[in-house]
Amino acid sequence: MTEFQPVAWVNGKVRYLDQRKLPAAVTHVETDDERVIADAIRSLAIRGAPLIGIAAAYGVTLAAKKARDENPATIPSVINRTIALLSGTRPTAVNLFWALERMQNVFAASSKSSVDDILDALIREAQSIHEEDEAMCRRIGELGASLLPNAVCVLTHCNTGRLATGGNGTAQSVISRAWEQHKLKHVYIDETRPLLQGARLTAWELQQLGIPSTLITDNTAAFLMQRGLVNAVVVGADRIVANGDVANKVGTYGLAVLAKYHEIPFYVAAPTSTFDAKTKSGKSIPIEQRSADEVTMLNGVRLAPEGVEVYSPAFDITPHELISAIVTEKGVHTAPFEVSLKQSKESA
Ligand code: MRU
Repeated sequence: MTEFQPVAWVNGKVRYLDQRKLPAAVTHVETDDERVIADAIRSLAIRGAPLIGIAAAYGVTLAAKKARDENPATIPSVINRTIALLSGTRPTAVNLFWALERMQNVFAASSKSSVDDILDALIREAQSIHEEDEAMCRRIGELGASLLPNAVCVLTHCNTGRLATGGNGTAQSVISRAWEQHKLKHVYIDETRPLLQGARLTAWELQQLGIPSTLITDNTAAFLMQRGLVNAVVVGADRIVANGDVANKVGTYGLAVLAKYHEIPFYVAAPTSTFDAKTKSGKSIPIEQRSADEVTMLNGVRLAPEGVEVYSPAFDITPHELISAIVTEKGVHTAPFEVSLKQSKESA
């Protein structure tokens, strides 16, 4: 098993795994520069909703540390600038904004303290965000696995494992817990075009865990369901809004429609840091657009004619009526989601 930590705070620096190079190479990068973290998030070297939030929190800490060492008077402006920089990296996963708001609040509460105390408070907060996510992943796995029947074959999309979180994953935590409980028969992994997070990352992680899995092209899911080979779809989320609509990797909505037609339960697994209670419905979720090259080229080889128009949203919206349950660390939420999610937010 290859040892890796997707993001770690090590001796006042951030060490992260460059996920763009997987599965060919496990390459870690060490940095004390928040701009490197911002680039890593933007370029998907660091990715997955919870992990983006964790990395951004450490990014704020790096900037504050540099300002303390170089010119402590600039700490407030450096923190504001860094939060703005990191907020602009990716628009859809709400965990990013949630984590930055926590960092902003901790700074506001400690801003009258000594510069060393401010820095300590920021480091502690970033580490708490990281550790809390680890615990949330474990709980999500436990609750999600309890929904699955014996000998279940699961279809999943994108990457929701250790590479995407501070722990052992969201949807993937459900899968690995079901495996530990001897309930899981097989996992089908959507390759997840255009950036192949399923093929490159989930297939790699499940192999390491010894979980039996089969990689499929995204357009095979319907046939798999028609043949009766899937008993449950389990996916993660980048943002869950007040009415229960879910933004997740593009292709998720299609799976939910297919699951409904084939009467297969469709589960979403995510921590409450993925909740955006202020947004009423999925229609208002900002959707990141990816560059044409990611569709027209593969590993530097051109697949489509130069100049062809491309539409490449990174995420889509699954309407709540297609979702059987949303599993968070706080419980299993079912329709009416508006009520269930509100209660869970209020008990936070
Ligand atoms: O573009 P990515 O790779 O960051 O997209 C990730 C996903 O869509 C995941 O399904 C989501 O973040 C949940 S991960 C725990």
